[in-house]
Amino acid sequence: MKTIIYYFTGTGNSLAAAKKIAAVLGDCELVPIASLKDTQGAIVTAADRVGLVCPVYDAGIPRIVAEFAERLDISRAGYTFAIVTMGGMGVSALHQLSGIFEKTQGRRLDAAFAVAMPGNFPPLGKPPAGEKMDKILLKATLRLTEIAGMIDKGLAVPPGFSPVSSLIKCITYGPFVKNVHGADKDFSVSDSCTHCGTCAKVCPVKNIEMVDEKPVWQHHCELCCACLHFCPAEAIQLGVMRGTKGRGRYRHPDLKLADMEAQQGE
Ligand SMILES: Cc1cc2nc3c(=O)[nH]c(=O)nc-3n(C[C@H](O)[C@H](O)[C@H](O)COP(=O)(O)O)c2cc1C
Repeated sequence: MKTIIYYFTGTGNSLAAAKKIAAVLGDCELVPIASLKDTQGAIVTAADRVGLVCPVYDAGIPRIVAEFAERLDISRAGYTFAIVTMGGMGVSALHQLSGIFEKTQGRRLDAAFAVAMPGNFPPLGKPPAGEKMDKILLKATLRLTEIAGMIDKGLAVPPGFSPVSSLIKCITYGPFVKNVHGADKDFSVSDSCTHCGTCAKVCPVKNIEMVDEKPVWQHHCELCCACLHFCPAEAIQLGVMRGTKGRGRYRHPDLKLADMEAQQGE
């Protein structure tokens, strides 16, 4: 049975989740959502099983994923599923995704799962490191093995319900989506920049241009924070809430630079 998993990731949690599911299902193609960003029209998928994997942003799904889901034609798929990875709370993101499919195609997701993984937004909370990070990742791997088994059996799994997640989404998600492309105005780069250009290479949506060997953000940001977390000199900061100076950086241990470049497509 052929499966396609569409994914978006900033720091590797969602890609690691997608890879774990693919390894159990077999005959599975992984497609980066960002690589399809500049294409037009409906995305028709002919696989028997179709899955989406992405992070939770402000209790919803990243803007790029919402726009992608609106274009995705799942009418030929026998079974659909979604997995969101999150730092703490995000079931409402699954309701959002399922709602998009209900609106565009008259069917909801067959199965929807939320998996806790290390948080990657330092202005809000320091990303876990060391043993704490290992513990969270181990738990996530066990949960993903369980989820892969349910998907393989074709089980119907509705998203759970969290009133808190729904309330947060109601309050914060609208302004987040409206303003996210311009949110890069709060990124800055310090003199410790080594001009290596890693930030531009890892940005899934090609939002960074190197000008005079320094990053300049182009205002179509998704706020995935890959630039912040990958900078080898920690020269990039995000000046919102508590800021990011000395507040740690995070990348899933299996994530490679090439994985991030693959999201940029051609
Ligand atoms: C802009 C932004 C907003 C976030 N909002 C939430 C949130 O509302 N709830 C949550 O549990 N985690 C939130 N997170 C944490 C991520 O969802 C989580 O770390 C995710 O696993 C990252 O996936 P990735 O490594 O595939 O990018 C947020 C992260 C970012 C960058």
